[in-house]
Amino acid sequence: MSLSSPRGTSDIFGEEIKYRDFIISKAKDIFKVFNFKEIITPAFEYTELFDRGIGEGTDIVQKEMYTFADKKGRSLTLRPEGTASVVRAIIENKLYAKDLPLKLFYIGNMFRYERPQKGRSREFWQVGVEVFGQSQPILDAEVIWLLNSFYKNLGFKNLKLLLNSIGCVECRPSYIKSFKEYIKPRMDMLCSDCRFRFDKSPLRIFDCKKDGCRKILEKAPKINDNLCDNCVRYFKSVKKYLDSLEIDYEIDSGMVRGFDYYSRTIFEIISLDIDSAQNALAGGGRYDYLVKEFSGPDLPAVGFAIGLDRTIIQMKKLNISVAETSKKKSTYIVTMKKDYYEYSLMVMRLLRDNNIICDLEYENKNIGPAIKKAEKLNYDYLMIIGDDEVKNNSITLKDIKKYKQYEIDLDNKNRLLEMME
Ligand code: HAM
Repeated sequence: MSLSSPRGTSDIFGEEIKYRDFIISKAKDIFKVFNFKEIITPAFEYTELFDRGIGEGTDIVQKEMYTFADKKGRSLTLRPEGTASVVRAIIENKLYAKDLPLKLFYIGNMFRYERPQKGRSREFWQVGVEVFGQSQPILDAEVIWLLNSFYKNLGFKNLKLLLNSIGCVECRPSYIKSFKEYIKPRMDMLCSDCRFRFDKSPLRIFDCKKDGCRKILEKAPKINDNLCDNCVRYFKSVKKYLDSLEIDYEIDSGMVRGFDYYSRTIFEIISLDIDSAQNALAGGGRYDYLVKEFSGPDLPAVGFAIGLDRTIIQMKKLNISVAETSKKKSTYIVTMKKDYYEYSLMVMRLLRDNNIICDLEYENKNIGPAIKKAEKLNYDYLMIIGDDEVKNNSITLKDIKKYKQYEIDLDNKNRLLEMME
């Protein structure tokens, strides 16, 4: 029997790794500038964390979690997202005890039992950030700025930032009351999922993608028009700061973003080049009550997650190139005899000790095919080690792109290293 990877998962290798490394290194560069530190949490957690954190009425908890019992019968779940895990980790490790705000980032695989299609898989990767300990609109703007700069640095253009406010504990209950009053007489026009949501978690009706439900939602009262004075002021400030950062946004008053933990500001980055439901590249928002709900201190928070897989799909479509992370030149080495392997090891050690990418040709002893291979593998040079080179303690370096050739005396190692700059 031949085995394949489970539906909705994929192996990652070759070109895909180049894109991932490129994106992750760009993300880490910008996280450094914004002063974020990395955190790694387990890929699975006790199920209760997600039930309570994400919310029992959400699609993720209702339908999409990979939940299983371990050998002692405890219920565990493969993480469907990173926020709940990071919240658990900062409480458990008391990471909030030092200077606030606490600014963390993570890179990890997430698991959701969804119907696989392009841009939607059952195992996917996220790069996320979470900031704890401040509830100031300037911080929301900074986090959005970070996300915006990340995509700008990658070379993205045709993106839209969607923004909304979903209120706080003060204004949401009265809004939910009027929303339910609007929905109640229209209940039998809703899908069965939404009828369930009506009791469990009414705001989740806004997550429904079905046409019938969307039609009813068009005329429904929106949370954004029913905010309390504090939330109105808060949202106004977020927008003011975004304006001063010259970040464009569009208010999407029907956006609620599929998780129960959000309060006030929520946002998404969508690609205008993708004409499907999978056009959200990244999303996030403020969640001021989650840490406290897990018996932690009163720590307001805000964060986002970038979908790595969707970002890669989009980069390929837009022909955004992934430059080599090493700026130094690289060389492919061919020896004319196996007897010269030791000699080549001496040269390879010099190169690799100086962070220069090199590799040895193990099969071909002919220069022609070796050049072709080096060209195909995108090396800058072909290094030749033959009788003359060994006799003279030298190497010959062929510049593949410029069709030039250099004889380099190894008594002067710096000359070789300079050639690789
Ligand atoms: P999310 O919107 O569920 O937010 O996911 C963020 C991104 O992950 C999406 O915009 C999308 O690019 C990617 N993504 C989600 N599901 C899939 C899938 N099945 N296949 C491929 N890519 C997918 C969160 O997860 C929140 N935890 C974000 C956050 C952090 N909010 C506050 N802090």
